[in-house]
Amino acid sequence: MPASAILRSALSALGLLLALEIAYVVLRRSSPRYRLRLLYHLWAVSLAGVGALLALGRDMVRVTVFDLTVTAAALLTTIVVFSLFEALVLVRPWDPKRGPYVPKLVRDSVRLSLVAVVALVLAHTLFGQPLDKLLLSSTALLAVIGLALQDVMKNLFAGVSLQSERAFQVGDWLMLDGVGLAQVQEMTWRATRLRTNDGLEIVEPNSTIAADRLIAYGSGRKPVAFAPRIGLPYALPPAEAKAILLAAMRDAPGIAQTPPPEVFLESYGDSSIVYRLRAWTHQVAGASRFQDGLLARVWYAVQRAGYSFPFPTRTVEMHDSTQETVRAGEDARARAMALLADLPLFHELPAEALGRLAAAARRVHFDDQEILVREGASGDSLFVIEQGHVLVTMSGDEVKTTAIPLARLGPGNFFGEMSLLTGEPRRATVTADGGCVVLMLERQEVAPVLASDPAIAEALSRSLAEREADTAAKLEDRRGRQRAAPAQSQANFLRRIREFFSLPEA
Ligand code: CMP
Repeated sequence: MPASAILRSALSALGLLLALEIAYVVLRRSSPRYRLRLLYHLWAVSLAGVGALLALGRDMVRVTVFDLTVTAAALLTTIVVFSLFEALVLVRPWDPKRGPYVPKLVRDSVRLSLVAVVALVLAHTLFGQPLDKLLLSSTALLAVIGLALQDVMKNLFAGVSLQSERAFQVGDWLMLDGVGLAQVQEMTWRATRLRTNDGLEIVEPNSTIAADRLIAYGSGRKPVAFAPRIGLPYALPPAEAKAILLAAMRDAPGIAQTPPPEVFLESYGDSSIVYRLRAWTHQVAGASRFQDGLLARVWYAVQRAGYSFPFPTRTVEMHDSTQETVRAGEDARARAMALLADLPLFHELPAEALGRLAAAARRVHFDDQEILVREGASGDSLFVIEQGHVLVTMSGDEVKTTAIPLARLGPGNFFGEMSLLTGEPRRATVTADGGCVVLMLERQEVAPVLASDPAIAEALSRSLAEREADTAAKLEDRRGRQRAAPAQSQANFLRRIREFFSLPEA
């Protein structure tokens, strides 16, 4: 073999190797996602080898050496070209946040299949192996491998299906039975590697994850809700409890403002009313810290509102229940009396009559948005608001519009007097605006009071006339230029009240 041929061959091999190594440096700089190192260098060497052998001339080299070098170069070229395509296209390097186009396991399977196909083609073309024999033996080989590696294959297919379904991605948080929340670190052919907030590494076989129910919390990009349950005392009306809980949740650390937090009354427990909170957060990673902050805020808010958390205790208290009932009744009556005495309507009423009214009054709780009085219904009770507010609205049918707001009444205001005093159907609908507590007085309790003090009928008829006029004015506004039916006068109401209650003329 002439020395000049050897030198030429060595030089061309070196040149090719150098060119490929320079290309490697450029590639690594421009695409940091290109991961092959050793294989790239082997590929460069194999190509340089092919180059050197070609430069020497095929007749100078033994056929097997040449064929083996070409085989190695072809197999490595398949791997390197596919990896390049993967790094530049398949993993979507220009928008890494959206993740790769094709899951890693699928990419790996395609790479392996390509290598197998190239190997088959080379075995057929370079080494003259008949294709049918090759296919048969590779199928048999696959079957043997498949049987021997049943579990591995199970995990592999589970992994491929999980990834192609995009059930979760690296960085997502999963809820695992007996472990809690853990973040996906990596998915391999066999298993998914996760890490909990306590720093525990969990390697869960893909087949187990695919077979179990999977609860994925995502990566925190979309908010997720946590729903702790809270027991609050029975004495705390649900509307007030919800308002306290919502206010506490609204500025809990880490809470997302959209969707807004919610509270649901879930059940009546042994010692408490159970509420379920729904609080959204982006802080999936800090879920425990988030729940801690949330529940702590709730404790302080409940405490500030003057309540404490009930818990099942077995404190045995000896008490006289009849006496307690009597005392509770007296308390309630005293509060009712104070409220009624404050009404300008009953200012002139003697204490004894006021006491009778207070004793007869029924204290009733209503939830937010509950209807206390429905327009058009018959009714003979008068309501006095003790706590909270109500909205008075009238259906807009007459003026072809939605409900017309008439008034918002609060503690110390009364309503329901129109039907009670005239016997006519309710003129308006009254709805609780937040939770409220009202005292209800029935007609048979109001009648003797009206009979005993003519000033009360007069005061009530004045209020009736004022409200009538107010309603008429609001309807007039809606009607535009049409004329409203004239509101009835106070004297007219007074006459009707007297007739209805068979009261003598004053
Ligand atoms: P009643 O008709 O028995 O039931 C509905 C109640 O709404 C009515 O009695 C009044 O007490 C109250 N109401 C009606 N119109 C008005 C108004 N314009 N302002 C305040 N309250 C009203």
